[in-house]
Amino acid sequence: MPLSVIILAAGKGTRMKSSIPKVLHKLANKPLVEHVYDTAKDLGAEEVIVIYGHGGDQVKASCKHFDAKWVEQKEQLGTGHAVMQAFDSVNLNNNVLVLYGDVPLTKKETLENLLDNSEGKVGLLSVNLHNPFGYGRILRNDKKQVTGIVEQKDASEEQQKIQEVNTGILSCNGETLKRLLNNIDNKNSQGEYYLTDIFELAEKDKIEIKTAQPESSYEVEGVNNRLQLATLERIYQRNIADELMTNGVALADPSRIDVRGKVEISNDVYIDINAVFEGKVKIGSGTNIGPNCVINNSVIGENVNIKANCVIENAIVENNCEIGPFARLRPETHLSVNVKVGNFVEIKKANIGDGSKVNHLSYIGDTDMGKNVNVGAGTITCNYDGANKHKTVIGDNVFVGSDTQLIAPVNISNGVTIGAGATVTKDVSEDMLVISRSPQKTISGWQRPLKKK
Ligand code: UD1
Ligand code: CA
Repeated sequence: MPLSVIILAAGKGTRMKSSIPKVLHKLANKPLVEHVYDTAKDLGAEEVIVIYGHGGDQVKASCKHFDAKWVEQKEQLGTGHAVMQAFDSVNLNNNVLVLYGDVPLTKKETLENLLDNSEGKVGLLSVNLHNPFGYGRILRNDKKQVTGIVEQKDASEEQQKIQEVNTGILSCNGETLKRLLNNIDNKNSQGEYYLTDIFELAEKDKIEIKTAQPESSYEVEGVNNRLQLATLERIYQRNIADELMTNGVALADPSRIDVRGKVEISNDVYIDINAVFEGKVKIGSGTNIGPNCVINNSVIGENVNIKANCVIENAIVENNCEIGPFARLRPETHLSVNVKVGNFVEIKKANIGDGSKVNHLSYIGDTDMGKNVNVGAGTITCNYDGANKHKTVIGDNVFVGSDTQLIAPVNISNGVTIGAGATVTKDVSEDMLVISRSPQKTISGWQRPLKKK
C-alpha cells in the first residue's frame, strides 16, 4: 500500500539551550529532521508531511530542498493534535507512518518490519528499557494483546513498573487514524491531546494492534539536549567505522574517524587517527591517510599516500600521488598520477601533470602544469592583480628554480629552465633558460657595525 509519512517537528527543544530550532541541530553535519526525511524517502514514501511550529521559517528555509508538504501547528497541544494538523494534506487512502524530527537514527529495516507486520492494522513500535522512566508504557492483556498506552504522568505505581515503552512511532491506515483521532480528548494530567490514546480506541473498535521492535534502542532515542545529541553522533560514527572495517578498510582507531556525508572507501585503505570526511568522498584501494586529515568532496585514487595534517577540498587526486604533510588542496585541484605535493604547499584550481613535483612552501593557483615539472621551494604563481585572476601555463619538463614568482598571465613552454629567484613576467619559449636577478656584488674587508658601549 502507498505510504505517507508524517514527521512531527513542532517541538521547541528548550533543553538544547539554543536559538536554533531543535530539529535543525546537526548530526554528522546534517539536520536531525533531514535524517528522518531521508529515511522516509528511503522507505519509498509517496508523500512526506512535516508538522512544524517553533522556528518554522528557519526550519523551512534550511529544508528548502525537501520534497515535502509543510503544515504549521500553531499551538503545541500534544502529539495527537500535531498529527491531526496533517489530515487536510495527507492522502487518507494511504498507510500513514508517524515519525519524529528529533529521532534521527531509526533504521529503514526496522520501519519496514513495522509496516509489513501491521498492514490493515495499527502498528506500534515499542522497545524494552531497563529504565523506562518518562516514557508511555505499553499495556497488554492476558493474551499479550496491546490494550493501550499510559503516559508516565498518568501511570499508576504498578504501571510504572512496565518496561515495554512507546517509541512514539506508529503506523495506521489514514482513514482509520483520522477516525480514531477524532475521538480523543485532552482529559489527562498534561491537558494534551495524546496520539497514544488511539490504541485504547483501536482496541475497543477491535482493530488489531501489532507491535514491532528495533534491533537497538538508539534507533528510537530522541534528542532533547546536547548530551543526547553527542551520544547519538558517537553511535552513528561508530556504526560507520564498523561498516568500513567490515568492508576491509583499516582504521587506526574506530573511535577517531568522523564521516559527515557519504564515503566510498575501497579495501586495504589505511586511515590513521582523527580523519574527517565531509560530503562525498571516494578513496581507492591501497591508499594511506595520515593522522589529522580533512577530506571534503574529493576523489582520491589508488595507492596514494596522504601524510599527516592535510586538508583536501573538491579535488581529484589520481593514483600513486604523495601529498603532505601539511598540504592544502583547494577546490578544482587535479593531480595526475605520480604527482608529489609536499609540506606547506597550497594548490588551487590547477591541473598538475603526471610525475610533477611541488615539494616545498609554494602556492600554485589558476595553473595548467604539464608532466615531469619540478617546482622549487617558495615558488608562487602570482595569479591576482588586485582585481582579476590570471592563468599560468607551464609545459612539460620545466624546471622552476626556488623562490620564483610567475606573474600571470604567463606561459612557460616545454623544457624551460628558470633560475632561482626569478620574477617571470613574459612568456618563455621552449628549452630556454630564464634568469632574472641582480648581479651579485662582493665587497672585501667589510667591517660590520659595532655595538656602542
Ligand atoms: C511521547 C509519547 C510517549 C512516548 C514518547 C517517546 C505521547 C502522548 N506520548 O511522549 O508515549 O513514550 O513520546 O519519546 O505521544 N510534538 C509536536 N507537537 C505537539 C507535541 C509534540 O510536534 O503538540 C512533537 C515534539 O516536537 C516531539 C514529539 O512530538 O518531537 C514528542 O513530543 P513530546 O511532548 O516530547 O512527547 P513525550 O512526552 O516525550
Ligand atoms: Ca519526548
